[in-house]
Amino acid sequence: MFQKTRYQLSVSYLAVFAALLGIFTLAVRVVFARSLSQKLTENLTILGESAAAEGELDNGRLQVENDFPTNELIIRHQALQWFDSQCHLVDQQGQYILTLPLSFNIDVQTQKIGKIRIRGVTLPVISSDNGRLIGYVRASQSLEEFDETLAQLDWGLGSGVVMTLALSSIGGLLLTRKAMQPIEQSFQRLKQFTGDASHELRSPLMAITTNVEVALEYPEGMRSTDAKKFKAIANAADQMTRLTEDLLLLARSDQVQSPHQEAVNLEEILHNLVELYQPQADAKEINVKANLTQPLYVLGDLVQLTRVFANLIQNALQYTPTGGLVEIQTNQVDRQLYISVKDTGIGMTPEQLQHIFDRFWRADQARSYQSNGFGLGLAIAQSIVQSHGGSLTVTSQLGVGSCFTVRLPTHYPL
Ligand SMILES: Nc1ncnc2c1ncn2[C@@H]1O[C@H](COP(=O)(O)OP(=O)(O)OP(=O)(O)O)[C@@H](O)[C@H]1O
Ligand SMILES: [Mg+2]
Repeated sequence: MFQKTRYQLSVSYLAVFAALLGIFTLAVRVVFARSLSQKLTENLTILGESAAAEGELDNGRLQVENDFPTNELIIRHQALQWFDSQCHLVDQQGQYILTLPLSFNIDVQTQKIGKIRIRGVTLPVISSDNGRLIGYVRASQSLEEFDETLAQLDWGLGSGVVMTLALSSIGGLLLTRKAMQPIEQSFQRLKQFTGDASHELRSPLMAITTNVEVALEYPEGMRSTDAKKFKAIANAADQMTRLTEDLLLLARSDQVQSPHQEAVNLEEILHNLVELYQPQADAKEINVKANLTQPLYVLGDLVQLTRVFANLIQNALQYTPTGGLVEIQTNQVDRQLYISVKDTGIGMTPEQLQHIFDRFWRADQARSYQSNGFGLGLAIAQSIVQSHGGSLTVTSQLGVGSCFTVRLPTHYPL
């Protein structure tokens, strides 16, 4: 029970942390890549500008005056191209040259040649004499290094994220364990108290019950009003005994790991219960249908399992008006047994359905259906079924009826 809460807590903690880390990493990556790319474009622009200064108009034709230091261009994986005002290539130097046509609209171009991406920046060449446009310069550079740096960054960020997440999930587990400890402890204490208190109440209740019983054995010596009072006391003592037994069972059910294990035939249990409750059903003119044809074996505790189905059948009879129908069906799918108790009773709303397994919870309309229950029946049934490795589920519609289904793992006796 706490295991699940602890797990959910750790998972939500990790999810929030992972989301934050993801956003942060993404932001770092985007900002870094953008500024690196800007820097590269700036450098190319500077190169282009100094190259443009080399261009001169000679007899109406663009001439490149000085040869650029080609070695340096090669070392830096750069290249230069000069074009005249009609965009005809005049000269070029360096290795990483764009083959794309000159573009005026986009002054930054990127092209993939082979495996290498190349970026080019186009700048106008203006005559120093008359300020007229005499051609263009395109400075370009291989993006190999740029891509490599980004790949390294990705790798570093990725492994950083993985490592941080691994460490923080360990930390989260430890933290939630520590945080849950006091809650678990106080829950244990509460359970211990409930168990102890109900255990201690047993003997005084027993004393009351036996004394009342003895007194009622000789009603002749009493006034008739006294006899009535003693009967009321007997009833109240009986109710309290049931409550303490239920509380004790619930308080212990969480502690006892595995119930007493034996091969139990559910068919027999159900058959006996139907017989047991037949008079009650007859009194309310409720038709009880049960198709029990073959033995249904599970491994578990006979007394506890009897209690589960007794609770379900009792509820069905209790919350079904006169003339209704209660149907018990069994089904086996793969290695699981499904036993459903279906009624045509008052049913429940979806909101009520969320609470029916809570301890001491009873729907308001249930109170008008006489019955002196405490609202523990289903909580006990669920706890027993779960400790047997099964589950208890319910579907219900207000005013139409309810269907409780118990799933238990099949046992195949030798
Ligand atoms: N078959 C049913 N049809 C309609 N409502 C039901 C049915 N079974 C249970 N409920 C609702 O769920 C509530 C809880 O059931 P539960 O068996 O736990 O307690 P109870 O029957 O009121 O008391 P107890 O079983 O402790 O004597 C009931 O009070 C009732 O409102
Ligand atoms: Mg009940």
